[in-house]
Amino acid sequence: MKPTLYFPPINKLGNVSYRRIVANAGADFVFTEMTRVEKILEDDEFQLRKLKIPANMSHNTIVQLICDDIENLEAGIKKTLEVNPNVFEINYNMGCPQSSMCSKEMGGGIVGNPDKVESIAKKLYEICTKYNLKPSIKIRIGIIRSDTRKEESECITIYENVKRIKQAGIKKIYIHGRCLRDGYHKPATHAEIARVVKENPDVEIIANGDIKDSESLKSILTQTGCQSALVGRAALEDPYIFKELTQNYKRNKQGRELKDIKPQLLDFLQYVIEDNLSISQIKHNLMYMTKNTQGGAEFRKVLNNSNDVKELESYCKTL
Ligand SMILES: Cc1cc2nc3c(=O)[nH]c(=O)nc-3n(C[C@H](O)[C@H](O)[C@H](O)COP(=O)(O)O)c2cc1C
Repeated sequence: MKPTLYFPPINKLGNVSYRRIVANAGADFVFTEMTRVEKILEDDEFQLRKLKIPANMSHNTIVQLICDDIENLEAGIKKTLEVNPNVFEINYNMGCPQSSMCSKEMGGGIVGNPDKVESIAKKLYEICTKYNLKPSIKIRIGIIRSDTRKEESECITIYENVKRIKQAGIKKIYIHGRCLRDGYHKPATHAEIARVVKENPDVEIIANGDIKDSESLKSILTQTGCQSALVGRAALEDPYIFKELTQNYKRNKQGRELKDIKPQLLDFLQYVIEDNLSISQIKHNLMYMTKNTQGGAEFRKVLNNSNDVKELESYCKTL
């Protein structure tokens, strides 16, 4: 069976134009960047922009929210629906490792507190049911891989957290195979996801962590028993990874030159022009896309001196 592929929430990089390019390349679903509920309630423009979903992508875009205070969730969901009446799934972030969030038991800081996980999941379930939306949670597997002073259950908390989320009524969970303290750079592991899948056949589990190509996708799906996966940083480097994963498209992965990624760059810039984004809003995307290419450093010099997307597009045409 063909797996379902998702482009996950990526703060500061998962903008509307980038979501369009990955969806066009073959991602079945894309996520908005994590949006702070309290900020959208204050009409903060930067956070509201994250919620921009083009009409032709309302069927495949999932909104990710996070609250300082869960009591604000209903107002945040109502606001999300005012901006995008056709939203169908609300995802709640339980994975962000930023210390400013973790210290307040927000994002990934919550994974060591199953009671709080359950109370947030309950609230999310109740409100989503009221507004006819699908509730889901994205969560890490634990706090730290091992700690001699702690029991395994205090480190790898995913089994208890899944039990609590399920108890609250939620049946869709995206699991990032890293602990909070792994940040993003330690390799992800998938044995924990496999155990969750085996023990919870009534919950839809989506695997996440280190999918880089068709081989790693196949291996992670086989290992975990999942039928769907999130592809994050590899898609930031090359949005056409979704073509490889869905259409037997052959990508040149080793020793890539800038001209090898010219179609991706031009596709992306075309969307950026249509969506009216500025260079500063897409700079990180272009840095990511060119970081492992020969000639990338020269490209980034041009990028740093450029203030105009159309001018940059003309430069890319000459590559
Ligand atoms: C720069 C960056 C920003 C991210 N922002 C978010 C976010 O806003 N919400 C979220 O749930 N995960 C966020 N993540 C985590 C990713 O969604 C994903 O879980 C992680 O990158 C692991 O997948 P990968 O190994 O395929 O990259 C972010 C990751 C990175 C690298």
